[in-house]
Amino acid sequence: MYTWIKAFHIIAVIAWMAGMLYLPRLFVYHCAAEKGSVQSETFKIMERRLLRAIINPAMVATWLLGLWLAWRGPDSRYGWFASGWFEAKFALVLALSTLHGFFARWVKDFAADRNRHSVTFYRIINELPTIIMIAIVILAVVKPF
Ligand code: HEM
Repeated sequence: MYTWIKAFHIIAVIAWMAGMLYLPRLFVYHCAAEKGSVQSETFKIMERRLLRAIINPAMVATWLLGLWLAWRGPDSRYGWFASGWFEAKFALVLALSTLHGFFARWVKDFAADRNRHSVTFYRIINELPTIIMIAIVILAVVKPF
């Protein structure tokens, strides 16, 4: 059972990360599209669908399955909750989830033609999910502490 849940946790993580890596790239392109243009309206649809159909449900599934794994962790009692790697991973996952919240807000801003940030801003933001993901995977797999 544990390994099955872990497999589905990783599947959910892949879907969540695919969206989290692609959405800020769409924001970068969207900045260059003129307001009201066909291109800009197409980006709005792509952003909304990516957020609602992939990123949101994948994040919920990742959390539910991950918390189950943490609770049932090797031979249980308090599961993985007292392990150093898990606490560090948990902090980074909270950071990733906060970033997700900002992405949702920026999708809304673009949808209302009220984007307040520059291309450079989104280019920098674009790197954050990658950096956080690398750290999380190393913590979860290597468990260095
Ligand atoms: C949303 C909250 C999350 C929680 C509560 C959580 C919790 C866990 C737990 C307890 C395990 C089992 C570790 C083991 O049995 O060795 C696990 C496995 C794993 N998690 Fe997460 N996780 C979360 C999100 C993520 C994210 C965002 C990523 C990647 C970006 C990720 C990547 C992995 C990987 C790769 C494994 C497999 C580790 C292995 O078996 O070697 N998790 N997770």
